[in-house]
Amino acid sequence: MLKMTDIIKSYGPTLVLDKVNLAVEAGQVMALMGENGAGKSTLVKILAGIEPADGGQIEIDGRAVAIRSPAQARAAGVGYVAQELSIIDSLSVAENVFLGDASIGVIRSASRLAELARPYLVQVGLGHVDPMALAEDYSVAERQLMEIARLLSRKARIAILDEPTAALSETEILRVKAAVRAIAAEGCAVIYVTHRMPEVFDLTQRVTVLRNGKSYPALDTATLTIDALIETMLGRQLGQMFPPRAKHLGDVNLNLDRCLASGLKSPVSISLRRGEILALAGQVGSGASSLLRMLAGVTPIQSGQIALAGRPYAPKTIADAIAESVVYCSEDRKRDGIFAVRSVPENLSAPALGAISRFQILSPGRERSHIRSIAAKFGLDERYFSRLAGNLSGGNQQKVALGKWIGLDPKVLLVEEPTRGVDVGARAEIYGNLRALADEGMSIIFASSDTQEVLGLADRIATFFHGELVRVVEAETATAESLTRDVTRAHEAA
Ligand SMILES: Nc1ncnc2c1ncn2[C@@H]1O[C@H](COP(=O)(O)OP(=O)(O)OP(=O)(O)O)[C@@H](O)[C@H]1O
Ligand SMILES: [Mg+2]
Repeated sequence: MLKMTDIIKSYGPTLVLDKVNLAVEAGQVMALMGENGAGKSTLVKILAGIEPADGGQIEIDGRAVAIRSPAQARAAGVGYVAQELSIIDSLSVAENVFLGDASIGVIRSASRLAELARPYLVQVGLGHVDPMALAEDYSVAERQLMEIARLLSRKARIAILDEPTAALSETEILRVKAAVRAIAAEGCAVIYVTHRMPEVFDLTQRVTVLRNGKSYPALDTATLTIDALIETMLGRQLGQMFPPRAKHLGDVNLNLDRCLASGLKSPVSISLRRGEILALAGQVGSGASSLLRMLAGVTPIQSGQIALAGRPYAPKTIADAIAESVVYCSEDRKRDGIFAVRSVPENLSAPALGAISRFQILSPGRERSHIRSIAAKFGLDERYFSRLAGNLSGGNQQKVALGKWIGLDPKVLLVEEPTRGVDVGARAEIYGNLRALADEGMSIIFASSDTQEVLGLADRIATFFHGELVRVVEAETATAESLTRDVTRAHEAA
């Protein structure tokens, strides 16, 4: 159904795609994989009419097509879910579902539009969402699912999903998978970009790998092993994914005594030692993010006490938290994580301006060494320094978003989705880095929708459900099944 041949694309002097080929049959789900910056998003943006190619051909149903704009792509039957959220916060959910759909322009009544949007929302598990409410009222995961509802509404023949599940937890991923299977069953050709291995084996029939600007002949998922796939992607084998856990922990660093904040339905008591990594696991709305936001000074503490290194800690603003050396890296990279129109060095030095200035004047030497040390820790290539952060690939943006906070050398690091959209190789590096920082005495709390990450990286795991802390367990004793049970409270339903 779709054949892309000899696609060439450069950004300035950088050749990103060097005669890349990709072919997908009707009814087939093709995984598109490769390291961060390999060119996956660039390739699908060309197909979606967002970026022009410098060379190559695109054929649909055996006929050459010219795709030079998103409108032409849509006319050719291409539907596209971008890697970075393209939901417009100030529009209603229903307006977002039909965004850019010219045929809907004549429908003026908001309630009629809501009615039309509802079936698509239900199909992606957003039955609880009010189609007339503003999109900004919903979480990243819910907004991501709105994008998929938009794709369904378009009835595309070729569907592109660029990391649709990077921000989602297991149950929401099931919704996405079901939606993808349904569109493939209707004869749609699907291109599915992901860094999550289980999805590749579960959902796709073939895999196209990009590396160093080249594409490899598509692999059959059925006969592929995970090690072979990683080796094709990275050009090397991957050693240990997760570093060893902490051997000895320090004193109590952070102690929460019956704390309540918006999003939490019952008080939370928990403590964290120096050198400890605590994972928070839970679905959207579970309270895990609410706890992080309270600790970060984003939302106020309603009742209870927090002690940081033995002293009362009650941040009213994010700045208060930072002043106490508690930093927070949010899950919404595009909105809160980076300054897209600023350079990578400006992003990395932004939180540290005080430390790298002398008499309130920025010291270029200090700034350089500050940036270099972060880049080295996070495997962020120095050739990216001349770029705007918004022009980096998704995974590299994540390194910037996290790295800038690490640069402050905080006492407590709060992170949501630490490796969202990060490739397997860089993921192992980030895990190693976080553990090394903990070993130096930092306490880390991270919330993650990735079960393997929760089980592999944490010392202890706190599970949340419907605004309540379910339990705290040693990570060594937890399993994927026990976690799923806790975060869905399935045993109570049963
Ligand atoms: N607008 C742009 N200007 C300059 N360089 C760009 C631009 N967009 C992308 N690039 C560069 O092109 C390369 C490929 O980026 P792309 O986003 O396609 O990678 P990717 O494979 O999707 O990675 P990820 O897994 O991190 O999403 C990267 O080196 C990126 O920095
Ligand atoms: Mg990408």
